Amino acid sequence: MKILTNLLNCLLFPIRKPNFCQLEQCLRHKTIIITGASFGIGEALCHLLSDIECQLILVARTADKLQLIEQSLSNKKAKIDLFCADLRDVEQLDSFIAYLASYHVDVFINNAGISICRPIMQSLDRMHDFERTIKLNYLAPVKLCLALIPKLQQSKGHIINVSAINVLLAPTVNWAAYQASKTAFDQWLRCASSELENRQIKVSTAYLPLVKTRMIAPTKIYKKLPALQPCQAATIISRLLVSQKRQYKPWWVIIGQLASVIFNGVWCKLNSYYIKKKQ
Ligand SMILES: NC(=O)c1ccc[n+]([C@@H]2O[C@H](COP(=O)([O-])OP(=O)(O)OC[C@H]3O[C@@H](n4cnc5c(N)ncnc54)[C@H](OP(=O)(O)O)[C@@H]3O)[C@@H](O)[C@H]2O)c1
Repeated sequence: MKILTNLLNCLLFPIRKPNFCQLEQCLRHKTIIITGASFGIGEALCHLLSDIECQLILVARTADKLQLIEQSLSNKKAKIDLFCADLRDVEQLDSFIAYLASYHVDVFINNAGISICRPIMQSLDRMHDFERTIKLNYLAPVKLCLALIPKLQQSKGHIINVSAINVLLAPTVNWAAYQASKTAFDQWLRCASSELENRQIKVSTAYLPLVKTRMIAPTKIYKKLPALQPCQAATIISRLLVSQKRQYKPWWVIIGQLASVIFNGVWCKLNSYYIKKKQ
């Protein structure tokens, strides 16, 4: 069984290691902001970039965890600055933006995110679910981008958005709050990207498949599905840092995108069947 899982993982996620020399060349002496750096993909990215002589600005809510990461990387080359904030909170977000005023910024990695998997019929009295996803997954990165654009223009910098393949596929039942908020920022960035590129700011999006982090832990079915390790997701982001390509998506997503269009009716029927079975 383990061999089969490994084989499937190799087939679905053929990820080449980052070329460390290129990564170093590209990031040496650069200042990189990583939101959501305390766990999962953000944490793995901190470890991956810590061998480079650069400045990492890490932001998340969990101060203890950020400090642990800083301690564990204290003998590495990267210089680390921490900022503890709940990015959904307007005042805390504004304090973070004010804190960044004295920094020259080269790269903004929008990684902080929350997901919620809940049927609409169980959300009738839970408007806060839609507010917290939209605040963190959409409004916070928009506000950060608006604040950082002048700095990124000066540095001919790079925005990397950590998104999900779901944004590219037909909508799935139970994921309205998450998918709407991730799609909102994806659309915003895609609309803005021509203007940004015109001002010499590169824009990349990593459309990631499932990644084994605490985010997917509450969803039982995901335990059985093939998924990336956080360090593999960090590798994908590091390759975007070097290649500055507009996007990464797994090779098989194109099949899902085609199927989303051709078999949209079948997909809707399958969703209805699933809901009836669950009732
Ligand atoms: N896991 C997947 O399957 C998957 C797939 C595709 C895309 N993604 C995307 O990947 C990104 C990282 O997710 P992950 O899987 O690494 O999840 P994770 O392990 O739960 O990490 C999420 C990060 O976001 C931070 N965060 C959450 N709420 C925050 C808030 N209000 N203010 C500031 N920071 C906050 C968390 O730190 P604190 O709790 O300390 O604040 C944590 O560092 C997300 O944008 C997610 O949408 C994940």
